[in-house]
Amino acid sequence: MKILVTGGLGFIGSNFILYVSKHFPDFKITNVDAEFVGSNRLNLYELKNKKNYEYIKGNICNRDLMDRLVEKSDVVFNFAAESHVDRSITDPEAFVNSNIFGTYSILESVRKHKRKLIHISTDEVFGSLKSGSADEQLRFNPSSPYSSTKASAELLVNSYCTTFDADIIITRCTNNFGPRQFPEKLIPKTIILAIKNKKIPIFGTGRNVRDWIFVVDHCEAIMTAFKKGKPGQSYNISGYNELSNNQIVRKILRMLGKPTSLIKYVGDRPGHDFRYSLDSTKIKKELGWKPKYGFEEALDITIRWYLENKKWWKGLSEKQMLVGKKNSKYDK
Ligand SMILES: NC(=O)c1ccc[n+]([C@@H]2O[C@H](COP(=O)([O-])OP(=O)(O)OC[C@H]3O[C@@H](n4cnc5c(N)ncnc54)[C@H](O)[C@@H]3O)[C@@H](O)[C@H]2O)c1
Repeated sequence: MKILVTGGLGFIGSNFILYVSKHFPDFKITNVDAEFVGSNRLNLYELKNKKNYEYIKGNICNRDLMDRLVEKSDVVFNFAAESHVDRSITDPEAFVNSNIFGTYSILESVRKHKRKLIHISTDEVFGSLKSGSADEQLRFNPSSPYSSTKASAELLVNSYCTTFDADIIITRCTNNFGPRQFPEKLIPKTIILAIKNKKIPIFGTGRNVRDWIFVVDHCEAIMTAFKKGKPGQSYNISGYNELSNNQIVRKILRMLGKPTSLIKYVGDRPGHDFRYSLDSTKIKKELGWKPKYGFEEALDITIRWYLENKKWWKGLSEKQMLVGKKNSKYDK
């Protein structure tokens, strides 16, 4: 089986490639990544000399490149996306390019070469929920440029399934955490700033709720959807760990033995969604997947990884962590 992974130098893509190379050693993996924010070559350093792994630096918006790579593959896993809500507020255009045009570029190639596509989406397409959990039928209601571009990509995918009978599955996941996540996101940012005894910013009141899942559980759910899912269907993937930002940050501080006086409340994010929640009964009942890791266990693994891999993040300044910019030292 030849698989093409897009965005494989990013957080989830790199964990997915490591998961596949461990559990499916016969698979040939090609990884294409534009090396935008979120990517890190160190993420897959251990695969550097592996025969079954090939890396290509490239943009999914490049139609010719995608055409060549898709033709050589049996299936595409599309992780590539601009992924941070805050940056989507300051630079929406990058999100429109990668998340909408990039998806279109892949869709055209999978249509032309009749290849399977697993498209990775997010719970954020459903917007903020006061109560209950979103199942696959709920109407989209995205709030940020990030979530709207992800929702737009999904609509485009659906149109290719309906109009061209394309063989595509969408997976939609809640907030991931784990090793290799770029420190612009809440959990790694909190861990690293706490290790450095720096102030940890929390938006608004910190009561906003997200449902958290360990990245390895997400990778397993994606493979389950690939192996057992039906074309044209979408599958919600949730960790059933709804926690507020306050709870998350306090848990991390407690586990690291740091004081809560490091917390600093800052002005809220514009349009900040209060709560996301997914109902993943469908993937559980129809495909037999459920998460394996408990939240505390997975958080412990994650904290230990950041403590043991300081080389991975030490080139980043505090400013880069807070606003999501890379420097050349870190990038090597
Ligand atoms: N992180 C989460 O909690 C979460 C939750 C649900 C869904 N998702 C989705 O999972 C996917 C991966 O998210 P992540 O957290 O790993 O993000 P990430 O920012 O860590 O990684 C994204 C990767 O995509 C690459 N990329 C971006 N635009 C590209 C382009 N035009 N061409 C080639 N490569 C490009 C980046 O260089 C980066 O390596 C995204 O589609 C995201 O929407 C993420």
